[in-house]
Amino acid sequence: SQVELGGFPHFMLKEIFEQPETIRNAMRGRLDREQATAVFGGLNLEPRQLRSIDRMVLTACGTSWHAAMVAEYMIEEFARLPVEVEYASELRYRNPPMSPLTLLLAITQSGETIDTLAALREMKRKGHRSLAICNVVGSTIAREADGGVYLHAGPEIGVASTKAFTSQCVVLALIALHLGRLRHLSYEAGLRIIDELEALAASVEKALETNDMARHVAGRYAGCDNFLYLGRQYNFPTALEGALKLKEISYIHAEGYPAAEMKHGPIALVDEHTPSVFIVPQGAVYEKVLANMEEIRARGGPVIAIVDEDDERASQIADEVIRVPHVADYLQPIVTAIPLQLLAYHIAVLRGCDVDKPRNLAKSVTVE
Ligand code: G6P
Repeated sequence: SQVELGGFPHFMLKEIFEQPETIRNAMRGRLDREQATAVFGGLNLEPRQLRSIDRMVLTACGTSWHAAMVAEYMIEEFARLPVEVEYASELRYRNPPMSPLTLLLAITQSGETIDTLAALREMKRKGHRSLAICNVVGSTIAREADGGVYLHAGPEIGVASTKAFTSQCVVLALIALHLGRLRHLSYEAGLRIIDELEALAASVEKALETNDMARHVAGRYAGCDNFLYLGRQYNFPTALEGALKLKEISYIHAEGYPAAEMKHGPIALVDEHTPSVFIVPQGAVYEKVLANMEEIRARGGPVIAIVDEDDERASQIADEVIRVPHVADYLQPIVTAIPLQLLAYHIAVLRGCDVDKPRNLAKSVTVE
């Protein structure tokens, strides 16, 4: 297994560092500049059928559910389709009224999560078409969905998902582009998205340079018992995922929240021992998040900020600053995930936790 680790102390760190490559693999052969769209081999749905979808239901568990939350914003922005995101464990026992034109999209790294499988079967029973985004080729969910897209991220060994999450976000952006181009999205907008996607792996490569800074910040806060993770719009799911990563591998209590909603509860937790990690790259809601940061500062809470490389204003408010390359809003969850994964990793290592096999958790949950 020393060979498999390729010189890294843990699979999780190895998998974090694989992300420029796994992101390239997720888009390889799928970008069509001629048509300014994304193309897939296995959707098994005609353009006519895709155009007639009236709604999408995205279902998943854990980190894959966070990717679904990112996709909700992407599909709304590019394809102008109503999207609902449901925990698979909830969807399977609900009976929501849905038209036959509602498409189910199941997202699962392993393709074996029992709740996601049950939700898929329940929706199929009711006549809905289904797609699955899986990493494991030939997995049960990949076989049972009507069509699907593979991540091609290679085996993910670390129990806490890292590279699968960023690949899921990439594939979901491709699906949003594909659906958008069948509906309202212009040729020009499609081409712009393709340009942005093609530049993404290089930005993720640069984001990995935050490793030293993440280790340094981890050293300062590894003794804290509570963390808040805050972001808005595309970076609200990022905040949920950052908090989950910390919880899973370091056993520190962490809550992800929409940055403005924190004043309706979590702000009561803020004191000098409770750091808030703000995901605040420049974009549509930058100013708004700055105001939320000020509120935390005013209550004496330490602020760790994930910001763009040339940021000035957030950096003045924050105690700790981690800089990542600037990308378009919908790609920010992918680039900002990197320092959040690294921060959780280094805190867990400093606390002596078993990073690759955290207590009580399983890589694939096949019991209800
Ligand atoms: C488990 C794993 C998580 C994963 C979740 C969903 O809880 O520990 O890392 O996100 O299952 O798994 P899936 O394979 O369906 O993506």
